[in-house]
Amino acid sequence: MNQTKLSKSEPAAKTATKPTVKPQSEAPLRTPTDLKPSATKDVSVAMNGLLADVFALYLKTKNFHWHMSGPHFREYHVMLDEQADELYAMTDPIAERIRKLGGTSLRSIGHISRLQRIKDNDAEFVGPIDMLAELCDDSKMIAARLREVHSVCDENDDLASASFIEEWIDQTERRTWFLFEATRPQAAINS
Ligand SMILES: [Fe+2]
Repeated sequence: MNQTKLSKSEPAAKTATKPTVKPQSEAPLRTPTDLKPSATKDVSVAMNGLLADVFALYLKTKNFHWHMSGPHFREYHVMLDEQADELYAMTDPIAERIRKLGGTSLRSIGHISRLQRIKDNDAEFVGPIDMLAELCDDSKMIAARLREVHSVCDENDDLASASFIEEWIDQTERRTWFLFEATRPQAAINS
């Protein structure tokens, strides 16, 4: 066989240097970050739990928006739609913060149901004040969860997620306030 010999002046094949980023096949969704691996893991877990609760509360708020009844129908129907919009607006930034840290976000309704702490309400009929009172309690749970996640972000130097969360705590407390005032009994106001 006629083999071509390499000339002595030809440079030797370069020795392979270790890649700084893992090959796609090993870590296809590992977005590079300067934060520690524990940040990717711990913040992702905390944020996915939050995301599950926000989706669960979004759907419950829409459920109550659709099934509202009674003399204050329009007022409550509109208020719950506004609150649902705010909750929905949180979901994409939460999921994308997780991806920016190299974690993976929720993938399905089943995934949400495995992580949510907010309880669903599939009752055939719920009275308007009971709806608002339940959402008020859920809203306080979301605020508590936001504070929990904020602590995890602080521990892991994730300032950007913490900054989003601070704004969401304020929005959540506003929703709690509106729900509380709408459910306050007339007697309590007159006393
Ligand atoms: Fe609507």
